Amino acid sequence: MMAQASPDFKPKPDAATLAAEDPVLELRKYPDPVLMAPAQPVTEFGPALKRLVADMFETMYQERGVGLAAPQVGVSQRILVLNCAEKQPPEGELALINPEIVATEGEQYGDEGCLSFPGMYAKKRRPRKVTMRAQNTEGEWFEVTGEGLLARALVHELDHLNGRVFVQDLELVEFIKLRKELEQMKREWKREHARAR
Ligand code: NI
Repeated sequence: MMAQASPDFKPKPDAATLAAEDPVLELRKYPDPVLMAPAQPVTEFGPALKRLVADMFETMYQERGVGLAAPQVGVSQRILVLNCAEKQPPEGELALINPEIVATEGEQYGDEGCLSFPGMYAKKRRPRKVTMRAQNTEGEWFEVTGEGLLARALVHELDHLNGRVFVQDLELVEFIKLRKELEQMKREWKREHARAR
């Protein structure tokens, strides 16, 4: 999305200025290699991290998602944002830096999707309840426990940080349903990136 410009009166902004003005990050789609790579731990808890987290929330809301991992916007760092609350943000906002699972409980089986696979859904087994520990944007550790949708979103997003996407480990019958669309996505990605080179 372009920032509002006044081309009649101002010179065209350079890329850095445009990036600074444009809050929405480009969503990476399957099979972008950044989605398949393990993300690096965050070590700097400064303004750049806060800015990235704010931009990730904005991107997630724009795309109507409930969770977003930094590799999905091309940043291979261990950062997640989530909001599963059906209320007005910032209510329900969770930013998890360097998250790890503390405990899981039970099981749920249901449909799951991913912003990096637009319009695709598959049934997937996940824990019913999950507790994670993570750092906030100040670097302080905290714990969060989620059930139902939040538990599903937490483990789905953590997978992204380990270079895993939701179409891996599907039951065969679920995988077969998506196979053609996945092949199509691969072809489209190759076509787009051949153009860019
Ligand atoms: Ni996802």
